Amino acid sequence: MSVSVLSPTRLLGSISGLLHVASLLLLVLLLLKAAQLYLLRQWLLKAVQEFPSPPSHWLFGHNQEFQTDQELQQFQKWVEKFPCACPRWLWGSRVSLMVYDPDYMKVVLGRSDPKNHGSYRFLAPWIGYGLLLLNGQTWFQHRRMLTPAFHYDILKPYVGLMADSVRVMLDKWEELISQDSHLEISEHISLMTLDTIMKCAFSQKGSVQTDSKSQSYIQAIRDVKTLFISRVRNFFYQNDIIYWLTPEGRWNQRACQLAHQHTDRVIKLRKAHLQEEEELEKVRRKRNLDFLDILLFARMKNESSLSDKDLRAEVDTFMFEGHDTTASGISWILYALATHPEHQQRCRKEIQSLLGDGASITWDHLDQMPYTTMCIKEALRLYPPVPAVGRELSKPITFPDGRSLPRGIHVSLNFYALHHNPKVWPNPEVFDPSRFAPGSDSHSHAFLPFSGGSRNCIGKHFAMKELKVAVALTLLRFELAADPLQAPIPLPNIVLESKNGIHLKLRKLL
Ligand code: HEM
Repeated sequence: MSVSVLSPTRLLGSISGLLHVASLLLLVLLLLKAAQLYLLRQWLLKAVQEFPSPPSHWLFGHNQEFQTDQELQQFQKWVEKFPCACPRWLWGSRVSLMVYDPDYMKVVLGRSDPKNHGSYRFLAPWIGYGLLLLNGQTWFQHRRMLTPAFHYDILKPYVGLMADSVRVMLDKWEELISQDSHLEISEHISLMTLDTIMKCAFSQKGSVQTDSKSQSYIQAIRDVKTLFISRVRNFFYQNDIIYWLTPEGRWNQRACQLAHQHTDRVIKLRKAHLQEEEELEKVRRKRNLDFLDILLFARMKNESSLSDKDLRAEVDTFMFEGHDTTASGISWILYALATHPEHQQRCRKEIQSLLGDGASITWDHLDQMPYTTMCIKEALRLYPPVPAVGRELSKPITFPDGRSLPRGIHVSLNFYALHHNPKVWPNPEVFDPSRFAPGSDSHSHAFLPFSGGSRNCIGKHFAMKELKVAVALTLLRFELAADPLQAPIPLPNIVLESKNGIHLKLRKLL
């Protein structure tokens, strides 16, 4: 019997041989990847060749132009220079056609292209595949199931709940301004809109505005939103494995966990409540169910079509979409009115003559404030809470001017740029509510704060009611003025935010 023992020299020799082969393999893989990226870039360059754009770096794309806080100003320069649309290179092998023309918008929104998988998928660890991220048949089924949650009969009693939440916030403001009339409003408004959606869609009792657990939810989603933007823009963060190993990836994971703890608590509480026979009967007797009850009942009835994971995704989606967008909307509307005192005063007069001291506000009142509604729309034009959305072309497209794009190209419907396009809105930077006067004539796709087509915002009526309640009750209680030392710096993140918050000077009126 012979035993062969490897001598140390032979062992070292075989290890170095293995390393040699491995490095050769790695080199081949890198070369293949580089060739693949090169070919992809050539294909993309050809695909968007009909659309001129400012020169871009072969690796960093247009990132340098967009790195400062001047991203929105940059959009405006492009809008003026390149008609209808312009390719924006994120880096050498990733481009998205930025669209800001109403006819272009109409063509894209009239199709059923899926959401742009490249960036929307980064939201999935947080909000899961709920209505916002779903596509195809499952999206259609969920949309049909949830649409009744926004029926007028359901929304009507919400006005009282909305007003209660706004009043809690205004009471807090009264106390705070007794010491200092300057206030950063957007954080208070986020908590207030979270309070509203928790009461309306999730049947929660009590106010979350004084609960520190809700503040940690708000902080967690603030973190995930910032991390989302950072991930979209970083070439190295595109790969999941690499990303989740980085400190940002781990921070993202922790923030998602915190956000999920909040939504899990909400589902658990409501389930426990529905165990009580009396509450269950009350809900069964309703003609239309609240949002969470629709989901819980669907889960009870047919376990296979809606899993626990689907249910959680919808709750996470609506918890976020249902409060963060309205918080952005209300904050910017109040800022717009603070910087335009003459319009603010006209709205106040209208609201005073309708509501008196505002002790009661009902659904019917909300259709009787035409000037305030015009100001709200004008503020949504200047500061659209959702600045842009993305699509991935599922088939070739030809725009009305004859230019076309092949399947697979990403398109960004840039509502901010559309709303600031001087060809669509003359003097776009001027706050002029008369643009929305009854009978004024504008393109059906010139004003799209809630997007359009089949994937428009399911919560738009809910949102408009909430904006009106918040604006009406605030103007009755306070006079608003801008703080000249702390002008907001708008940033187009998932929702339109201000880098340094929104600071106003408040004076109590009643
Ligand atoms: C001022 C407030 C709001 C604005 C400006 C707004 C805007 C939008 C926009 C632009 C979209 C299209 C997103 C895309 O295509 O990727 C959208 C979708 C959506 N919004 Fe809103 N939204 C607001 C309030 C709300 C509220 C209050 C809710 C829920 C209560 C809500 C729930 C949703 C959902 C679930 C979707 C996805 C719909 C689908 O794809 O079928 N939104 N919203």
